[in-house]
Amino acid sequence: MSRVAVVTGGVGGLGTAMVQALAAAGRRAVAVDYNGLKPEVVDKWKADRKAEGLDTPVYLADVTNFESCAETCKKIEAEIGPIEILVNNAGITRDAMFHKMSPEQWDQVIKTNLYSVFNMTKQVYEGMVARNWGRIVNISSVNGLRGQAGQSNYSATKAGIYGFNKALAQECVKKGVTVNSISPGYMGTEMVRAIREDVLQKVIAGIPAARLGEPSEIARTVVFLTDEEAGYITGEDITVNGGLYYH
Ligand code: CAA
Repeated sequence: MSRVAVVTGGVGGLGTAMVQALAAAGRRAVAVDYNGLKPEVVDKWKADRKAEGLDTPVYLADVTNFESCAETCKKIEAEIGPIEILVNNAGITRDAMFHKMSPEQWDQVIKTNLYSVFNMTKQVYEGMVARNWGRIVNISSVNGLRGQAGQSNYSATKAGIYGFNKALAQECVKKGVTVNSISPGYMGTEMVRAIREDVLQKVIAGIPAARLGEPSEIARTVVFLTDEEAGYITGEDITVNGGLYYH
């Protein structure tokens, strides 16, 4: 039976590529995305997947809210099966230089990018441990590794993922559950294209690969880390950033 793989932010730029790649690798991919998404966006996404031959369920939730995550994961487990792979990919930016950053910009980013990791992982962790198999992948960022001016909120959450992973990895590797992260660089998604044009051009000029990354380049790293044979890799981070920054 195919293992159920849940991707949060599954309808977004990186998430869609992850869902496609996991399905192609024989997983039962399930997208979880924001319950504030317009129904037409979700419908179009489902129709696009159907046209590709994928029947991908979409569940809507608020990953900043523990109860919403609990309800959603219970529903997925009842309707589809036990969640054995979790990719915490949902994330937002609210960029501002620190002196201009509002408490709301801080709060929204911390809750969406970091509380979400606790809220979702908590729902699936005990089941994974009980079944002696699980894969958790948290999506960090090059800007968690190196910090980025204008992103003290975002960089804090993405660096926070490393600490969370390294701690949890030690607790569960004996039980067949691994916890890793991927740190994408600047990928060709809406999030990156939203950067002011002059700033974005400077960013691209600084990438040794001289281009933005492709979402599929992150997705294939997700497939690798969630493979049956990846059980000895845990607490690790893989950077996929075109040479922009190294560990
Ligand atoms: N380092 C240090 N100082 C910098 C800087 C940098 N990288 N960039 C700008 N500054 C300075 C400027 O020189 C300027 O200084 P003065 O006021 O003394 O002239 C000051 O900071 C203000 O700069 P801006 O004019 O850019 O300020 P702004 O308020 O108009 O815009 C911003 C601020 C929205 C944060 C804008 O600078 C920006 O978009 N920066 C890019 C941030 C970024 O890379 N975000 C990544 C988003 S994608 C993502 O997050 C995905 C991922 O994981 C990689």
